[in-house]
Amino acid sequence: MSAKLKPNQTQGPKPPESDPPETAKLTVGGRSVELPITTGSEQEKGIDVTRLRDLTGVVTLDPGFANTASCTSSITFLDGERGILRYRGFPIEEVAEYATHSEVAYLLIYGNLPTRRELEQFTARIAERYNLPDGMERIFDNFPRTTHPMAVLASSLTALSGYYRDLTHSSPTREEIDAVILTFLAQVPTIAAYGYRRRHGLPILPPKRDLSPVANYLYMMFGAQQDDAVVQALRQILILHADHEQNCSTSTVRLVGSSRANAFVAVASGLGALWGPLHGGANQAVIEMLEAIHQDGDNFAKYIGMAKDKTSGFRLMGFGHRVYKNFDPRSRIIKKACDQVLGKLGIHDPLLDLAKRLEEVALKDDYFVSRKLYPNVDFYSGIILRAIGIPTDEFTVIFALGRLPGWLAHWREMLESPGFKIGRPRQIYTGPTQRKYVPLAQRG
Ligand code: CMC
Repeated sequence: MSAKLKPNQTQGPKPPESDPPETAKLTVGGRSVELPITTGSEQEKGIDVTRLRDLTGVVTLDPGFANTASCTSSITFLDGERGILRYRGFPIEEVAEYATHSEVAYLLIYGNLPTRRELEQFTARIAERYNLPDGMERIFDNFPRTTHPMAVLASSLTALSGYYRDLTHSSPTREEIDAVILTFLAQVPTIAAYGYRRRHGLPILPPKRDLSPVANYLYMMFGAQQDDAVVQALRQILILHADHEQNCSTSTVRLVGSSRANAFVAVASGLGALWGPLHGGANQAVIEMLEAIHQDGDNFAKYIGMAKDKTSGFRLMGFGHRVYKNFDPRSRIIKKACDQVLGKLGIHDPLLDLAKRLEEVALKDDYFVSRKLYPNVDFYSGIILRAIGIPTDEFTVIFALGRLPGWLAHWREMLESPGFKIGRPRQIYTGPTQRKYVPLAQRG
């Protein structure tokens, strides 16, 4: 069977209204079919293969979904070749510089920047929900102190669903979707802070509603009111992580949510996906790697060598990205912020010097250059998080707090997309063909 795919028209300006819809012709086993092409607002194109199996009997095979758009979305635009990231059209550089985290959450979820009044109402409605329901706080006493903070966060969020049974049914109304969103934006940071405090044997602190949400989170975690430089540094990190289109955790939230499971369990599943070291867990892995290299006498050449050696099982954490093939704009912003934040706080971190030297060497090395491996968002973020006092094993929790508005925006967008379907990929089976069952007694 041969398959030839010819997009009829893949470049050039957007066709005028009167042009016939674009299609791609696919020939499978001598039979040709025309498949529609969907064009996005940035002229990205996707061949719609929804009917391919019905028409030809074949499916598409794309391990890791490297070339598959699982949905259309109007939340985030990402161009990995040009290093562009925009939230609802706004460049990441601008929102990271000027916006508050609540503004970005509102923008991602509701599609536009809020007016002053809308933002005040939004943040007030979140603040009035900061407190966890009665009894929920006791959950933190039941985890062994060795439990990873991501496990505490994910299981506590699932447990929270028990207190909001009215928000867990399979067809939430728009008001109920909003109630879920506000509850999550308010209580996930509270859970994260309280999990930290109980793990460290510290008493729980009630929220301070006169602080900004970011400052309140730091207060609930550390007690004392934090320096503005610390609050601003965390604000920026949260915004830089707020959404990244169909990444592993967001796709998980959508996939779990597509079965009409409730948002508590969908987001908890997203937390599980995020935790992995190839995704959000990379920020913890980067610092652990830098510490190991530092303890090994800053012998970064040895680790670069190991990263290039496929038999070593070692990867340069914080390097490489499925989509960015030029540079990760978030990493550029964070690298610059590292110097500023550490300077403001009067901290000199030898790991920052090491990270910069590692980057310099890797970016001159043909292995990294030829594979287009550049520092990603996680390469420098841990240096800032360390500087502001966040323990290494809490880094992925910070990523999760940043990504929460993105997950909620995607969950909402999916639920409101007309005719959305349960996610259910196909496979190509490669196991044994039919064989006859042999009873145990005859198997020897
Ligand atoms: N160190 C060494 N080699 C690497 C690395 C790395 N960090 N990343 C990719 N490669 C190599 C890989 O071995 C492969 O080589 P070859 O073509 O010779 O087989 C080639 O580059 C392509 O890699 P891949 O694994 O096919 O690429 P992917 O798109 O499947 O994976 C990635 C992307 C981010 C999982 C991967 O680059 C990686 O493991 N990076 C380190 C972990 C990390 O920093 N993750 C955070 C990503 S950014 C935060 C987020 O949004 O999740």
